[in-house]
Amino acid sequence: MLELLDNQRTFHIQVKHTSLVLHVLPTGHVTIVYWGKRLESKSLAYVIQDIGRASYISDTDGIKDFKLEQLPQAMPTFGNSDLRTPALELEYTDGSRITNLRYKEFKVYSGKEHLPGLPTITSAEGVETVEILLEDCVQQLIVKLVFSAFYDYDAITQSIVVTNLSEKNVTIEKVVSSTIDFLEADYDVCYLSGAWGREAHRQVRPLSQGTFLLDSKRGASGHGQNPFIALADKQANENNGFIYSMNMVYSGNFQAIAEVDMHQNTRMQIGINPFDFAWQLAPQHSFYTPETVLIYSDQGYNQLSSTYHRFYRECLMKSSHAEKVRPVLINNWEATYFDFDKAKLLSLAKEAADCGMELFVLDDGWFGNRADTTTSLGDWRPNHQKLGGSLSELIEEIQQLGLQFGLWVEPEMVSPNSDLYRAHPDWIIQVVGRKPQLARNQYVLDLANPAVQDYLISELSALLEKEKIAYIKWDMNRNITDSGSNCLAAAKQKELSHRYVLGLYHVLEALTEKFPEVLFESCAGGGGRYDPGMLYYMPQTWTSDDTDAIERLPIQSGTSLIYPPISMGCHVSAVPNHQVGRITSMDTRGIVAMQGNLGYELDLTQLTAEEKQLVKEQVAHYKEIREIVQLGQLIRLTEVENQNQYAWLYRSKDATSFLVSFVQVLAKANTVPKRLKLTGLDDKAYYQVGERICSGSELMNIGLKLEKPTADYAGQQWLIKKVN
Ligand code: GLA
Repeated sequence: MLELLDNQRTFHIQVKHTSLVLHVLPTGHVTIVYWGKRLESKSLAYVIQDIGRASYISDTDGIKDFKLEQLPQAMPTFGNSDLRTPALELEYTDGSRITNLRYKEFKVYSGKEHLPGLPTITSAEGVETVEILLEDCVQQLIVKLVFSAFYDYDAITQSIVVTNLSEKNVTIEKVVSSTIDFLEADYDVCYLSGAWGREAHRQVRPLSQGTFLLDSKRGASGHGQNPFIALADKQANENNGFIYSMNMVYSGNFQAIAEVDMHQNTRMQIGINPFDFAWQLAPQHSFYTPETVLIYSDQGYNQLSSTYHRFYRECLMKSSHAEKVRPVLINNWEATYFDFDKAKLLSLAKEAADCGMELFVLDDGWFGNRADTTTSLGDWRPNHQKLGGSLSELIEEIQQLGLQFGLWVEPEMVSPNSDLYRAHPDWIIQVVGRKPQLARNQYVLDLANPAVQDYLISELSALLEKEKIAYIKWDMNRNITDSGSNCLAAAKQKELSHRYVLGLYHVLEALTEKFPEVLFESCAGGGGRYDPGMLYYMPQTWTSDDTDAIERLPIQSGTSLIYPPISMGCHVSAVPNHQVGRITSMDTRGIVAMQGNLGYELDLTQLTAEEKQLVKEQVAHYKEIREIVQLGQLIRLTEVENQNQYAWLYRSKDATSFLVSFVQVLAKANTVPKRLKLTGLDDKAYYQVGERICSGSELMNIGLKLEKPTADYAGQQWLIKKVN
């Protein structure tokens, strides 16, 4: 919803509980007046007029005491009297770098336009968009700030469009997707960080004067960081406090900053990483930034997460599976690695079917001559010898066991020892004259090259047309080095990282449109590209290659800060765990994997009868509760600081069923277990908890009885149902 105030100089963008307000000054500078809890107001221009002025800062436009650097700006550019970090840096053919943008006009419409070549959140009713146009008259350049309000979802999206109306090229050296200035700096910055096997740990630390910078230069959003940044109230916890957040719908190099200036103002930005980036914008052409999702919460991190989860499930993920419960799968990777034959796969599938699983996923090693990581990426033809016949025959036999069939691919890569590389050595990312570097024995295909894009679309289409494949795991197992493209002119080499992502999106768009029934799961050595850009095409992600139940606690809790549980692939694996050697009980492994989208990744044929029975029961139980987990609301019950205990609950859509889970990492001598207080129930309603009937107020204020752990890694789970 948009309200125009102050003679159409103030834009009040409103969603259910949040307001974002922009105001145009008489000089044509566009300012950010406010972002936060929804306001009722008739005029807001005074907020900017009231800002005090400091010394040693230039006046703007020769107006005494009109200091741009002290104003919260909507589009700060380089070369003016604001010497903080700009949102836009351009270089013109005359060598100049100054851009001076002033307001031109605005446009309001219902709905939202698709960003060319980029994932765009459009699928919701009642969306309203406002475009604010700025221009630089000297350079004949237009910059459009595009905000869309998703009223019911409490979400606002933003993107920026730069259009060159001059007759000469303009070089874009930096353009962010969102930039917001705050008149305060008393915040914590919150972000996700980690590494391969340790993704998405939530971090919170105080801001102080200077710049906090988070970025990826890896060609993918990366294991080490996520395209997400938030400023939080210093007292914020799971259920209280305010948080401002930006999440970028993008899968490549990004940069996010929180800059505190000398007068305790904060500038928060997120966008394509300006590192190794430059874009030649030809006359009459436009550059579209990826969009960001702006979410504000005034009730802590749980409310922030719930807003993201619902918005992403219902509006971002365009897959036909977005809101359908997902099949329980068995994946053969940790069960066999590369060492399998038909008999082994069928025995695994048979056990899986016996246990009630629904989807068999054949991971790496089914194609070309692939017996280890040294060969065959790029040759997506089934290895008949290894599969003991054709892939179609194997699929047929697996389907006869009552399972659907899924397949692993890593299409963006090529092995030097492959027919594809031998035929097209110039298709990889490399700088001619230098020996390209291998990682995991593979090169990255140059997805900026349309010939590569076409090849991938046709190879994978042929595979999906021929075989009865219900699911694809789309992997990406190395980052980009040797940044250079054979298909780009010298002046365009710095466009590669963004063009790679655009090429990938083009391929994914084509395949997901052509095969809407296929369930795609994205993976990049686990959560190395777990971002909204990938979720737009693929509604689930392999959260981490680390399958240890205890290691998964901070990974899944951190991931769930932004991404919905239905998108998190979580598998029960063997013990001792293959990544860390830890031994945890089947119960605890099940409880943790039920935090998301449950699967199994172990050799079921090696289980004892007792373990197999437990797995059977877990699968049956999960089928009963998966709708609560996958389509309900997640509420984290313990603070992330308390790393010895994790508890979380899911509330069903109709708020009648609750699944509560608790895991204690280490047992402690001589301690008395406290009770676990719940959140999100109805005070006055009554609930069945085991044998007992308790009111919501009891469960929230007195809580559930926790057992005293008699060993490390103990877990408990409760299914609570409302009674009439
Ligand atoms: C990556 C994935 C794993 C598995 C292997 C196969 O590491 O994250 O799940 O698919 O590749 O090579």
